[in-house]
Amino acid sequence: MSISVVILAAGQGTRMKSTTPKVLHEISGKSMLFHAIDAAQKISDDITVVLYHQAARIQAEIEKHYEGIHFHMQDAEQYPGTGGAMKGFSVKHTKALILNGDMPLVTMNALKSLIQGDADINMSVIKLDNPSGYGRVVILNGNVQEIVEEKDCIPAQKEIQTVNAGVYCVKKEILDSYIPALNNHNAQAEYYLTDIIKMAVDDGKIVHPVIVDEEEFKGVNSKLDLAHAEEILQRRIKTAWMKAGVSMRLPETIYIDSRATFEGECLLENGVSIQGASHIITSHIKTNSVIEDSHIENSDVGPMGRVRPNSKLIDTHIGNFVEVKKSTLTGVKAGHLAYLGDATIEEGSNIGAGVITCNYDGKNKYQTKIGKNVFVGSDTQLVAPVTIPDDVMIAAGTTVTKDANSGDLVLSRTHQKSIKNFFYKFFRKA
Ligand code: UD1
Ligand code: CA
Repeated sequence: MSISVVILAAGQGTRMKSTTPKVLHEISGKSMLFHAIDAAQKISDDITVVLYHQAARIQAEIEKHYEGIHFHMQDAEQYPGTGGAMKGFSVKHTKALILNGDMPLVTMNALKSLIQGDADINMSVIKLDNPSGYGRVVILNGNVQEIVEEKDCIPAQKEIQTVNAGVYCVKKEILDSYIPALNNHNAQAEYYLTDIIKMAVDDGKIVHPVIVDEEEFKGVNSKLDLAHAEEILQRRIKTAWMKAGVSMRLPETIYIDSRATFEGECLLENGVSIQGASHIITSHIKTNSVIEDSHIENSDVGPMGRVRPNSKLIDTHIGNFVEVKKSTLTGVKAGHLAYLGDATIEEGSNIGAGVITCNYDGKNKYQTKIGKNVFVGSDTQLVAPVTIPDDVMIAAGTTVTKDANSGDLVLSRTHQKSIKNFFYKFFRKA
């Protein structure tokens, strides 16, 4: 891989109206910036993220998830603007792709079209009926002459409908010679990266416009933009999985995280939410169920089932109002309202309605282990840590506080008594 990538992420993102940095807002389970980094990693081993506003927080978040990313702190006081962002460092390879951190919808195909060819600069261009807000791209005989920011346009230039989408592929020698020479003699008194275009053209360099799809290059600047981008990405994710053989009932009501994966024939009913890096294999997820960061294989969940992170369901049936957390269930049936947390349950075991693993004592979490062919009667509480081996029957309503032996019937109940004719006396009925 002989291309460097620079991701510009130093801007403040005021319009987001948030204490969270703009580029850390999530779309389909992943921050905008991580969408950009993931795309960059597919084409480059030299990735620099330019930071300024909330730099420490963004850098820490990146370092939690990625290794080997370079950081450059923009001197935004002295050198504000996209050109200022490029000052003070140099890229490793002979070409650099410059991306914005707030463009989560850009596809690999679009990036590939920008890094092809031998022009000194390839720049992304979109054609808009209403170009307002964007830098206008002056094109002559198929080559770019200059970019004029809206605030610097003369009236005739404002009519230009070819605009700068903000992504460029630039030869290193161009960056190294023109970035230091940028000035801020413009309406915003900023250092414009876009000024390198005219400088290069004046020196006889070739700047090639690459027409790109508006939808992909839309920047996210507000929470409204964020919601629109989410809709677009969800449509893409679901289209791809349906093409790969996943059935979806009323797909517009379904949410699927960008990190989730499917195998075999899966069916997702309406209202299902698949979150995190869940892996679903040949399973049926019924109406309004939520799956988070879990492995579901040859199983069915719901309607209204909830599988919380780090769970593994294999050959298992989970019915309505069953919540599973950090548990491994293999060949288990739990048909109705239960909480199974920090548990392992093995083949042939049946969990009755109302069963609860009491996994938390207010300080620590404890494990519940249930072996094969255990019948757990309805309304049982399993006070963890507790181990039930294979072949045990637990009577309905039992509070299990001690381990059992194979073959046992476990029960803890007070004896039932009846007081004759109490009802009639109490309600004064004959
Ligand atoms: C820029 C382009 C404009 C183009 C538009 C497309 C310039 C001068 N103008 O405009 O021609 O139509 O993008 O969206 O480049 N950033 C920094 N440091 C800064 C300022 C910005 O890193 O000092 C980053 C931002 O975080 C963002 C990107 O650069 O990711 C673009 O900044 P933004 O302010 O949105 O650019 P525009 O002025 O809208
Ligand atoms: Ca700006």
